[in-house]
Amino acid sequence: MPQAILRSERVHLIPLSDEHIDHQVELDADPEVMRYLGGVRTREQVVDTAHRAALTDARRAEGLGYWAGFVDGDFAGYWILRPPGDTDEEPPEGQAELGYRLLRRYWRQGLGSEASAELIRHGFEDLGLERICAMTSAANTASRATMAAVGLRHVRDFDADASWFPPGTDLSSVEYAITRQQWSQDRAA
Ligand SMILES: CC(C)(COP(=O)(O)OP(=O)(O)OC[C@H]1O[C@@H](n2cnc3c(N)ncnc32)[C@H](O)[C@@H]1OP(=O)(O)O)[C@@H](O)C(=O)NCCC(=O)NCCS
Repeated sequence: MPQAILRSERVHLIPLSDEHIDHQVELDADPEVMRYLGGVRTREQVVDTAHRAALTDARRAEGLGYWAGFVDGDFAGYWILRPPGDTDEEPPEGQAELGYRLLRRYWRQGLGSEASAELIRHGFEDLGLERICAMTSAANTASRATMAAVGLRHVRDFDADASWFPPGTDLSSVEYAITRQQWSQDRAA
């Protein structure tokens, strides 16, 4: 199944493609957006590495990947429902990892959680996933609050792989997750 076009109440989610590169460059150039994501990226780093890696990652599992999100026709950020693990690994069956990154002017309007909830619904209902997780820096309050807002539970603390981050980065990280059963029970409650 190819990646679906999705819609939450306010966000139109379109599978990430080359036509979204300029938006990705703007997003990854903001130090506040990239504070817990290894720091800002230049246009070259986005075009040659991050964008390519996102598209390659999306090809590892049917239906999963990266989505560019638009609000009233304007790019607001991107949302991720990717196969967990490294890009050269065989992804675990029935699982996905949630992520999100919004332009600063769209923060604190409920958009991060709104479109994430739609991706989670899509994952469980349309793709038949069994478990969705999300990981972030332990200090990333906004990301943790967004995970909790869409029903994910804290499952573990761990240290992130140092090779992903600039020297001196605090590697303390957290994983949150929700199973299909928990999601169904939450919806019924
Ligand atoms: C994380 C991020 C996507 C949140 O998006 P958002 O649209 O502002 O989040 P929402 O408005 O949907 O808020 C969701 C919940 O988080 C809370 N929240 C959001 N930002 C917060 C902050 N800075 N501090 C505390 N709580 C915060 C909201 O109050 C809400 O909680 P509630 O449902 O209990 O009221 C956004 O801050 C961002 O793009 N950050 C930079 C990129 C990043 O760090 N991504 C995560 C990497 S793992």
